[in-house]
Amino acid sequence: MYQSLQPKPVSASRISLAQLSQPENANILGNVHGGWIMKLVDEAGALACMRHAQRPVVTVAIDSMVFHKPIRIGDLVFITAGVTYVGRTSLEAEVYVETENPFTGERIETNTAYLLYVALGDDGRPVPVPPLLAETEEEKRKLEEARQRQDRRLAARK
Ligand SMILES: CC(C)(COP(=O)(O)OP(=O)(O)OC[C@H]1O[C@@H](n2cnc3c(N)ncnc32)[C@H](O)[C@@H]1OP(=O)(O)O)[C@@H](O)C(=O)NCCC(=O)NCCS
Repeated sequence: MYQSLQPKPVSASRISLAQLSQPENANILGNVHGGWIMKLVDEAGALACMRHAQRPVVTVAIDSMVFHKPIRIGDLVFITAGVTYVGRTSLEAEVYVETENPFTGERIETNTAYLLYVALGDDGRPVPVPPLLAETEEEKRKLEEARQRQDRRLAARK
């Protein structure tokens, strides 16, 4: 599989998904099941990292996910994922979840999560990925914050 190790900008792999929450996504209270949102968050983060790495990635760590408000069945769920940090073989994605009531247009920010992935080579072992080009001030700030999160994960691993 061809993979260039040229640095890549954050914008090249950012991804947005939209889903309509359906009755089969409900919890016993009739709102959206948190596990369904977690699955979408993990998939969106992985997709951004795969676009950056041009390799399959696996999830290594999911930092805390906090649901600030319940999501109603019938609400649209918008998920945006962007790569915030790249190590040698690891990548962090920031995944932002927002919902919209399609009838009123009301939008609610429900969740931001940080997930760490590792890119795998054809042998199933971690493989180097292209460095990340943080171009804007916001991307540079996010990169620095992500480095600190990764330092904390690695300290906890020991
Ligand atoms: C991902 C996996 C292959 C890494 O194997 P490993 O032997 O730990 O590999 P390494 O020690 O070389 O680490 C690879 C990278 O992951 C990072 N890493 C590993 N464990 C980590 C952790 N707990 N937190 C943060 N980063 C971690 C390392 O720092 C390294 O990053 P770098 O190359 O950017 O410096 C292995 O942990 C694995 O297979 N995990 C299961 C993944 C999976 O199945 N996910 C789905 C969940 S069901």
